[in-house]
Amino acid sequence: MTTMLNVKDLRAYYGQVQALHGLSFSLNEGSLTTLLGANGAGKTTTLRAICNMVRSTGAIEFEGKPIGTRSTENVVRLGIAHVPQGRGTFTNMTVEENLQLGAISRADKKAIGADIERMYEHFPVLKQRYTQQAGTLSGGEQQMLAVARALMLRPRLMLLDEPSFGLAPLIVRDLFR
Ligand SMILES: Nc1ncnc2c1ncn2[C@@H]1O[C@H](COP(=O)(O)OP(=O)(O)OP(=O)(O)O)[C@@H](O)[C@H]1O
Ligand SMILES: [Mg+2]
Repeated sequence: MTTMLNVKDLRAYYGQVQALHGLSFSLNEGSLTTLLGANGAGKTTTLRAICNMVRSTGAIEFEGKPIGTRSTENVVRLGIAHVPQGRGTFTNMTVEENLQLGAISRADKKAIGADIERMYEHFPVLKQRYTQQAGTLSGGEQQMLAVARALMLRPRLMLLDEPSFGLAPLIVRDLFR
């Protein structure tokens, strides 16, 4: 198996507060890796550091390229999709607009329409509500939308921050499938 992401000696800071103290791990293409830790351990911060949303030091390599100094936008362009903790949808926009936004950095514009239809097949409830404002969806529906929007990037790597939080077991099963 090929190493896809390699993180070495990662340290992250919020102002004077150090949140990560030398974290190292790697993960392989085609694998599913879980970060476990107590509240405040730094799981969310780790995902933010990979996307360069928090000041950090150390080495982060994605598919052999150092990405530690790339802007968040450029990290996304490499195919890394981040579903933030707490359902990061654009609440004033409709379901369909959220899905379109997920594909905004893609070059293959022609395939976007078909991918939106594919998301509606995966998550039929989103199809029923495609003109509804994201902020008025239920919590579970918003979580599905956040995951669907991330998939619209056709990502190489997905970073999911507590994707099952607050969801009923049946919905969790659907989401992970
Ligand atoms: N914006 C911020 N400003 C200052 N400190 C922060 C900020 N965000 C997080 N921290 C601190 O960084 C540490 C790591 O927080 P983080 O959110 O990464 O933890 P977590 O493992 O995701 O926790 P949880 O399981 O509660 O989501 C905590 O001590 C937290 O208080
Ligand atoms: Mg967290």
